[in-house]
Amino acid sequence: MNEQIRLARGAGQLAGRTVMVAGASSGIGAAAARLFAAEGAAVVVMARRGDRLARLVEEIEASGGRAAASAGDVVRAEDVERGVAVALERFGGLDGAFNNAGYVGSVFGPLHEQPQEDFEEIIDVNVRGTWNCLRHQIPVMLAAGRGAIVNTASPAGMIATGAPAPYVAAKHAVLGLTKATAAEYGEHGIRVNSLVVGTTRTEMLSSVIEAKPELESAFVARQVQKRMAEPQEVAEAALWLLSDRSSFVTGSHVAVDGGILAI
Ligand SMILES: NC(=O)c1ccc[n+]([C@@H]2O[C@H](COP(=O)([O-])OP(=O)(O)OC[C@H]3O[C@@H](n4cnc5c(N)ncnc54)[C@H](O)[C@@H]3O)[C@@H](O)[C@H]2O)c1
Repeated sequence: MNEQIRLARGAGQLAGRTVMVAGASSGIGAAAARLFAAEGAAVVVMARRGDRLARLVEEIEASGGRAAASAGDVVRAEDVERGVAVALERFGGLDGAFNNAGYVGSVFGPLHEQPQEDFEEIIDVNVRGTWNCLRHQIPVMLAAGRGAIVNTASPAGMIATGAPAPYVAAKHAVLGLTKATAAEYGEHGIRVNSLVVGTTRTEMLSSVIEAKPELESAFVARQVQKRMAEPQEVAEAALWLLSDRSSFVTGSHVAVDGGILAI
């Protein structure tokens, strides 16, 4: 293992690896795809917005990286299956996955004010989407006898943060899926962890703040560092969890949350 870690340092932390990033068209996922590619991975980027993915692939290739797009919805099993197939066809395997697609809902308020459709979409994207990704990625990793997976959760997956209740429930479920799959596949060389993401400057957050501008200062006030994260700061932790540097970390989570959970 030490030898592997040394090699990875010399050649990029994900050199020779193929990593699928779901929810890659903006924010944390797009930043992660750029970072993973810069660290030597071939990345398969997946999200619904194909035009954004095509631009991201162009950008990564222009800086000397390797990338392929697979437009699709994580809620649809066949779209996720296609993403995994692209990894196999274009790059010959799947060593890592960052299951990062998420949806917070259209109403940032109490449960009785939330529309039924929000509940369904929040559970679908965060829970079914993560489950779909795991379900199609794990068989490839099982066959290879190794793999690393990171699922994006939130402090809302651990405490009631004030985020919509279905989102709190959904992110708790993401942590549950992480622990269960880590336990099931640990002895087969597959590590599964969650990334607990604090308030980060992305499109998801902008849409929440646009609807309720007073939330911006409330979000910042909750962070002990009194600022939001930039997507790259979050992506760094995903990189660590996918690399061999975290070789004894599984069934766990890394909180990049600006201290929300500390107070
Ligand atoms: N920004 C924050 O403050 C914050 C805090 C905690 C957790 N998170 C989580 O971080 C993750 C990334 O979000 P972000 O903040 O970068 O926002 P974002 O809106 O920029 O990115 C979300 C990504 O998920 C994709 N996506 C959404 N639904 C999808 C679907 N059904 N199929 C495929 N792709 C889909 C979007 O296209 C986009 O690429 C999410 O899981 C979110 O819940 C974000």
